[in-house]
Amino acid sequence: PIKLGILASGNGSNFEAVAQAIDTENLNAQIQVLIYNNPDAKAAIKAKNRGVEAILLNHRDYKNREKFDGVLVQTLQNYDVEWVILAGWMRLLTPVLIDAFPEQIINIHPSLLPSFKGIHAVEQALAAGVKITGCTVHLVCLEVDSGPIIMQAAVPILVDDTADTLHARIQIEEHRILPQAIALAAQRRSLLLNHV
Ligand code: GAR
Repeated sequence: PIKLGILASGNGSNFEAVAQAIDTENLNAQIQVLIYNNPDAKAAIKAKNRGVEAILLNHRDYKNREKFDGVLVQTLQNYDVEWVILAGWMRLLTPVLIDAFPEQIINIHPSLLPSFKGIHAVEQALAAGVKITGCTVHLVCLEVDSGPIIMQAAVPILVDDTADTLHARIQIEEHRILPQAIALAAQRRSLLLNHV
């Protein structure tokens, strides 16, 4: 099994989707640790309910992003993490984290990238009047919400959608493709490594 470290700032529904995919043997992985940065993150409760170690690293306790990312890297390494999954992680990353896990950080984003980057992707799609949006799982590089795309799913926008109703339908697709994309990325990497 591949060893995952999950980073979450919020509800943790994507954390839960990954954990369920592991339970049902749709993803051959184990969750080494959940790290959360917001003391109120519901993801922490979900992790504890599953017996997954949940560690609070509050970014407000650190002088700058680099110091914070340094402690993140240390913690992920202490838990022997191979793949870092950003599952609703609402912090900008620095090279300190990205260089420590080269091409082994995966992000889920609630739009069809490269459209609607940033933290208000669902609202932006509604405001733009597009008729189709969706979600993207991609490898993380330094530029925010960019990097090689692993999987995407499309979600139609309905005339009476609000940000909440639309986000709820996007999340159904997120929960479906995130575990699949993790499996795909890990498979592909092991193939590449076996052939060098
Ligand atoms: C997800 O919809 C994810 O795509 C989004 O936050 C939500 C977290 O939900 N991420 C971003 O907007 C990143 N810029 P969850 O906490 O229930 O998994």
